[in-house]
Amino acid sequence: MLVLGIETSCDETASAVVEDGRRVLSSVVASQVDVHHEYGGVVPEIAARKHVEAIVPVVESAVEKAGITYSDLDAVAVTQGPGLVGALLVGFSFAKAFSFGRGLPYVGVNHLEGHITSAFLSDLPPSFPCVTLLVSGGHTGIYHVTSHTDMTLMGQTRDDAVGEAYDKVSKMLDLGYPGGRVIDDLAKTGDPFRISFPRAWVDKQSYDFSLSGVKSAVRRYIADHDDYLSHIPDIVAGFQESVVDVLVYKLIHAALETGCRHISIVGGVAANSRLRNAAMEKGAKKGLTVHIPPMDLCGDNAAMIAAAGYHRLIRGERNELNDDVYSRAKSPAGMKHR
Ligand code: KG4
Ligand code: ZN
Repeated sequence: MLVLGIETSCDETASAVVEDGRRVLSSVVASQVDVHHEYGGVVPEIAARKHVEAIVPVVESAVEKAGITYSDLDAVAVTQGPGLVGALLVGFSFAKAFSFGRGLPYVGVNHLEGHITSAFLSDLPPSFPCVTLLVSGGHTGIYHVTSHTDMTLMGQTRDDAVGEAYDKVSKMLDLGYPGGRVIDDLAKTGDPFRISFPRAWVDKQSYDFSLSGVKSAVRRYIADHDDYLSHIPDIVAGFQESVVDVLVYKLIHAALETGCRHISIVGGVAANSRLRNAAMEKGAKKGLTVHIPPMDLCGDNAAMIAAAGYHRLIRGERNELNDDVYSRAKSPAGMKHR
């Protein structure tokens, strides 16, 4: 089954063609990051307008790169939520019109379920059951995943998402937006143990996180140290160590508690080199297999949406033309809180 994926929940206009939820024939991502750069964050109204400009050429390009024609497509999968409503509406309306026009079924996909599914697009997909750490600019959570459509939230951030904390720390230090990649690179030249920032445990047994404490500690450190400019790599390395330490501990702990042998890390922050290395190293020590999607499928993309949509489509799920997008993390059928 050839599924056309569409994703416009934030600042990336993306489209992809995926075969049988597994083989990525094309994945096109048009990033608006340069547009939002000067504002230091995503401006929803601008994001929506840019999606309107980009959606048709991006879909055309995905189909062309896949080496197929529109009549080869079997279905459309589109992000329905959560995300920015104005942004979501562009992709969702396009998907409705496109599928209606071509007489194809379409299915709405939860963006988080899309990220979780991205781990199955790697060369070595996880086996069920597995535990997934989802870390992006908007979400941070640990999920117990028992099938492609059944995932239970075990714990999540109580305040900032991890990517958001990276972006805010980057802003404090004037390192630019988005901050994750910059901090990742700079931290490689710093000493992660020179400054010890507080850990984001809510408590060690829970799978919830709180990142506002470490973020405030960095802010305080900057205010208290006139010479902070002389050792920015040490500051960001210390911040990163504090975050990674807790994420990896909780991920491994969740896998051991639920008896899972496979763990995965997905979302934009899964591109983080320290997080990848620490999870690989500590996971291996506990006999766990660690799965991380290829770099280009960590951030927002439509291949993960097409893949997640495929697993709902083969269960017979379809959306109606009068269905709407949702901005907040509404739980789809299989996604429940523990
Ligand atoms: O998944 P994503 O593309 O969008 C959301 O759904 O939020 O994630 C974007 C986030 C941004 O906050 C960005 O700073 C972060 O992912 N990020 C990173 C890295 N690359 C991107 N954070 C840490 N290290 C990285 N290498
Ligand atoms: Zn995302």
